[in-house]
Amino acid sequence: MNSPLVLDTESVKYIIGDGALEKSSNKFDQYGRVIIITDDNVEKHCLPVFKRKLPDLKIFATITIISGEENKSIHQLIYIWNELTRLNVGRDDLIINLGGGVLTDIAGMAAATFKRGVQFMNFPTTLLGMVDAAIGGKTGIDFAQFKNQVGLFINPVCVIIDPIFLSTLEKAHWQSGFAEVVKYGLIMDRELWQKLNKKHYQQIDDWSSIIIKAARDKIDIVRFDVYEKGMRKNLNFGHTIGHAIESFYLKSGKPVTHGTAIAAGIICEAWISSKIFSLECTNLEPIVKMIDNNFSRFNFTTDDIPVIMKLMKQDKKIRENKQKMSLIRKIGKAVHDIEIDDDLITKSLIFYIERKKCNN
Ligand SMILES: NC(=O)c1ccc[n+]([C@@H]2O[C@H](COP(=O)([O-])OP(=O)(O)OC[C@H]3O[C@@H](n4cnc5c(N)ncnc54)[C@H](O)[C@@H]3O)[C@@H](O)[C@H]2O)c1
Ligand SMILES: [Zn+2]
Repeated sequence: MNSPLVLDTESVKYIIGDGALEKSSNKFDQYGRVIIITDDNVEKHCLPVFKRKLPDLKIFATITIISGEENKSIHQLIYIWNELTRLNVGRDDLIINLGGGVLTDIAGMAAATFKRGVQFMNFPTTLLGMVDAAIGGKTGIDFAQFKNQVGLFINPVCVIIDPIFLSTLEKAHWQSGFAEVVKYGLIMDRELWQKLNKKHYQQIDDWSSIIIKAARDKIDIVRFDVYEKGMRKNLNFGHTIGHAIESFYLKSGKPVTHGTAIAAGIICEAWISSKIFSLECTNLEPIVKMIDNNFSRFNFTTDDIPVIMKLMKQDKKIRENKQKMSLIRKIGKAVHDIEIDDDLITKSLIFYIERKKCNN
C-alpha cells in the first residue's frame, strides 16, 4: 500500500488515499471536544470504521441527521444548531463532518454559522464527496425548491479522504461520483483519462491513486479560483445540459442521480465541443464509448427537448438564445464562457437521442 498524499495548502490541509484515516490521528490535539455530524446510513456503515481506525480519538457526541437530498433542508440545519446548543459546543471545539456531499454541505454550513464559526474537518464517505463535494469550500442547503439556494463559502481546516469507506457504497452512488472523475480527465488531466479510458468503473482496482489524482485536480482549481470567477467554471463541463436533464427527470417524478445526468451532459457537450473546436472524431468517439460503457442512455425523446431547453434557461436565469458553456478543446483541456446557440444545443440532444456517429 502506498502512503497517502499529504498536501498543505494556504488554507486547508489534505490527506488523501489509503491509510489517510490513521495518518490524521495527530490533527485533533489542538481542539477542545470533538463532535461528529453524520447521517443515518453513514453512522451504520462508516462510523464503526472511523472509530476502529482512530481508537485514541475521544468523541464527545455524535449528531445524526436523516440521509437524502430532500433533507438538505433548513429543518435539518435547525436540528443541528439545536443539538450544538444543547451540547454547549464552543468555538474551541471541533466538528467532524462524516458523510457524502449532502452531509458535508449542510454540516459545513451548520459549523460555519454556529456561534459565528466552529472549526470543522471533512471526512467524505462517497466517491462524489471524495473528489468533489468535500473540497472547495462550498456549503449550503436547498431552499424554496432551489438547490443550494442558501449557503456560504467556508473552508474546513482539514479534508481527510480515505477510500476505505467506499466498500459499502451503493452502485448508483459509485456511478454518480464516477461521472465527475471522468470529467476531471476530460477537462484537465489527460493522464487520468488514459487510466480510465476503455474501463468499466467496476474493473478499476487502484481507486486510491485515481481518487488522489481527481481530488488533486479539484484542489488545484479551487485554490486559485475560490469564487468561480474564472477557471473554476471549467468544472461545469457536462453540467449545463446535465443539470437540465436532471431537473427534467425530477419534474417528471422519476428522479435520476446527478452523475448519470452529468454523464449524458458530457456526451452532448463533448459533441458541441467537436463542432466548435473541431475536436476530432478520434477524440469524441472514445468519450461517447466510455460513457456508454458505464451509464445507460436516458429514454427522453425529441418531443422532450423544448422542456429540457426551458429548464436550462431557468437554471441559469437567462432569456437570450445563447448559453455560456464550459467546453473542451481536446481531451485534458477545457475552456469556459463559450457562447453557444440554442440550435447547436438542440442538435447535441438529438445526437444523444439518435446515437449518431460523431461527424453527423
Ligand atoms: N459543495 C460542493 O462543492 C458540492 C459539489 C458537488 C456536489 N455537492 C452536493 O453533494 C450532494 C450529493 O452528494 P453525494 O452524491 O455524496 O450524496 P449523499 O451525501 O446523499 O450520499 C449518497 C447516499 O449514500 C449514503 N452513504 C454515504 N456514504 C456511504 C458509504 N460509505 N456507504 C454506504 N452508504 C453511504 C448516504 O447516506 C446517502 O444515502 C448534493 O447535494 C450536491 O449538491 C456539493
Ligand atoms: Zn457535478
